[in-house]
Amino acid sequence: MAYCPVLLVFILAFVCVSTEDEPVPSQMTKAERIQLREEARSMFYHAYDAYMDNAYPADELMPLSCKGRWRGVTPSRGDMDDVLGNFSLTLVDSLDTLVVMGDFSEFNRAVRLVLRDVSFDHDIIVSVFETNIRMLGGLLSAHVLATALRSEVPILRWYDGQLLALAEDLGRRLLPAFNTSTGIPHGRVNLRHGLRGLSESRETCTACAGTMILEMAALSRLTGDPVFEQKAHRAMDRLWMIRHRTSDLMGTVINIHSGDWVRKDSGVGAGIDSYYEYCLKAYILLGDEKYLARFTRHYNAVMKYISRPPVMLAVHMHRPHLQSRNFMDALLAFWPGLQVLLGDVRPAVETHEML
Ligand SMILES: *[C@@H]1O[C@H](CO)[C@@H](O)[C@H](O)[C@H]1NC(C)=O
Ligand SMILES: *[C@@H]1O[C@H](CO)[C@@H](O)[C@H](O)[C@H]1NC(C)=O
Repeated sequence: MAYCPVLLVFILAFVCVSTEDEPVPSQMTKAERIQLREEARSMFYHAYDAYMDNAYPADELMPLSCKGRWRGVTPSRGDMDDVLGNFSLTLVDSLDTLVVMGDFSEFNRAVRLVLRDVSFDHDIIVSVFETNIRMLGGLLSAHVLATALRSEVPILRWYDGQLLALAEDLGRRLLPAFNTSTGIPHGRVNLRHGLRGLSESRETCTACAGTMILEMAALSRLTGDPVFEQKAHRAMDRLWMIRHRTSDLMGTVINIHSGDWVRKDSGVGAGIDSYYEYCLKAYILLGDEKYLARFTRHYNAVMKYISRPPVMLAVHMHRPHLQSRNFMDALLAFWPGLQVLLGDVRPAVETHEML
């Protein structure tokens, strides 16, 4: 569940490119695929080993000085530092990738390090969204994988749900963020003190509010406590309620107390991106048709108003024929991956080629 760009590269590398006018190029050979796989593997270990050797247990590696980045110690980057919670972010975010790499012995070592070193009782304000997708998602996916591997991988036989207990502790620390009259969560929360010091916070982004359901639902189903899933569903319901009723498009910034739009420009990149992703994946993970129906309405709207092959341009949600800007941000590069997941491969290939 933690984001895995490596997997996206794999998926897209296997898509065979063709256009109307050109002959279909020959498909990739098995040797070429293996070579790309090994290239991705060595890129992963380059980053992972450098982090473990030079930065761990800090949250991030600073790639130029080759030192760990510590919240409140290294010079602040403003909002970007909201991902840093003094909880070894990069290691937790990498756990599932170690399993994808088939590296069970390093996975075992990494899980033991997390259980020894990671804790959440810190007086630190973190991004609810980033903490959910990377930390909660990382802990939950590692828990599910460790549980599944335990019977077949002897070195993992000791594993007995310890990561789930950590995930539940973290999940409870995120819950105060949902205490708004709209159910749309605050963008930030203090890991130790909840909303203390955050009474001024009023705005959040669509993606921030709408990228909780996979991890929160998994946490509820695994622990048996429905509260996490309920909060995330409520936020999703509210987002769906405030879509533009004729265009089915979403804006990018919301007032969490009134539910009113603060910014009404509508694209598929920064500020919205993973809300669309989570609508489709909520259907895939939970089997709830409601999310497929919502995703389909949003998808048709995006393809009608935002997709201008070969580019994708943001429009005004209430006047969707009016472009709101004339550039594309890097975050929308996830869109072809979502289209492949949906099975709409042709536009995915076109957009990927253009990117
Ligand atoms: C994070 O941990 C480092 C190293 O222990 C410490 O120096 C720093 O004060 C902590 N940051 C915060 C905001 O607590
Ligand atoms: C939620 O907010 C209300 C009103 O601000 C407050 O009275 C209540 O204690 C809060 N509940 C939690 C669980 O934080």
